[in-house]
Amino acid sequence: MDLLDRLRLDVPVAQAGMGGGLAGPELAAAVAVAGGLGTLGLAPPAELREAIRQVHDAAPDRSVAVNLLMPFVRRSHVEACVESRIDVAVVAFGMNRSLMRWLAEHGVIVFVMVGTDKQASRAIACGADGLIAQGCEAGGHIAGDTPALAFLPRALKVAGGRPVLLAGGVAAVDDTRAAMAAGADGVVAGTRFLLTHEARAHPEYQRRILSTDKTFRTTLFGLAWPAPHRVVANAATRRWCHEDGTTKLAPRLINAGSGVLARLPDWATAPLTRIQMPSLPMLSRVASRSGCPSRRWTTRRCTRVSTVLCMTGVLFFDGACGMCTRAHDFLVRHDRTGNVETEPLQGAGVAERLGVPHDRLLESMRWLDSSGAVYSGAEAWNAAWSAALGTRLPLLIYRIPGMRFVQNATYRWVADHRYRFPGKTPYCESHPIAC
Ligand SMILES: Cc1cc2nc3c(=O)[nH]c(=O)nc-3n(C[C@H](O)[C@H](O)[C@H](O)COP(=O)(O)O)c2cc1C
Repeated sequence: MDLLDRLRLDVPVAQAGMGGGLAGPELAAAVAVAGGLGTLGLAPPAELREAIRQVHDAAPDRSVAVNLLMPFVRRSHVEACVESRIDVAVVAFGMNRSLMRWLAEHGVIVFVMVGTDKQASRAIACGADGLIAQGCEAGGHIAGDTPALAFLPRALKVAGGRPVLLAGGVAAVDDTRAAMAAGADGVVAGTRFLLTHEARAHPEYQRRILSTDKTFRTTLFGLAWPAPHRVVANAATRRWCHEDGTTKLAPRLINAGSGVLARLPDWATAPLTRIQMPSLPMLSRVASRSGCPSRRWTTRRCTRVSTVLCMTGVLFFDGACGMCTRAHDFLVRHDRTGNVETEPLQGAGVAERLGVPHDRLLESMRWLDSSGAVYSGAEAWNAAWSAALGTRLPLLIYRIPGMRFVQNATYRWVADHRYRFPGKTPYCESHPIAC
């Protein structure tokens, strides 16, 4: 049975369980409902139980995952996971053989997030069911120094046939395809889901991520746990980091001596995180807006999870028609999300992929979405625009009573006369191999 079946997923996409309250039940549930793997970030045990219950209620037939950020995991967290019957645990930044065995004995699938060969081998030796190969492009906490696609083959080798998901810089369907073409069983995305309405990220935080094109690696936010992060600049990094992202002496010394704080209960450390401010060199992992885009996000925007996960697909168009080629180019130029792929209907094997008889293939354009649904004609065009703009609006307009009729009639007329309209060099003439 493959990973998608085992985890009851429609799409090979997991949402990272981001800490600091960012990945709460609203986000994990929205991802689960949309067919991906929703993951709750680590929270105090009682909160975690309630969050798991909420995801179960919202998405009863889907899997629920919890991120176990090891430096902060206590027995009570694992008890909450086991008793609430989670499906998947993502063990990160440390591992513990007996904890993983305990989870496995209760039927929990255990993935371990790794960034180096050594961590990968250790995870397998501890009994991991699968690995998450995290690349150094990843936002938030980073486990290694190697880019994701370079590290993936090494992780696959160590995994010895167990599933491997790729994390780091995954934002659009192209990234997922590239990861899977390189052998991954799926992907994990964090920053992309941070930029959704369902994430509990402050709008100003989201705005800053969207408006920056530079990230860097730092250990500044290392109070209690001096692990590196990939972040966007803020007042604290400007005050306490050198140009290259390395941390100045004062926070480095404080971080080095603060490991013991990670073992204290949440109530004891909470006041510390509350007094954080850019002028003090004491900044923990939940420092406000420590943000972490791993790539350029400026062309993207905050969208709903269902838009991120469901509205990706391939637009099939008539590659022998100049007007269709012009319309296709216009759509591609305005694809703000990167969620649209295109192919000519004349490509090899297209009829089989769409489940359409060969003699009816050129009847109309078609949209094949990531869940396998096929739309044709005006609806396909609206679906492609919804994906390109990251909003369901074009599809919703199409579904307004009466609108469907008008759009279908217009589409039919244009499609029937398409070779008479002025266009440009038809796609198949300039891309003969694709047709
Ligand atoms: C804001 C933020 C918080 C994160 N918090 C955690 C965490 O608590 N535990 C964890 O294992 N990984 C955490 N990560 C890392 C993710 O698990 C994942 O590896 C990363 O987001 C993938 O890279 P991407 O952001 O480019 O998609 C966090 C990432 C972000 C962006």
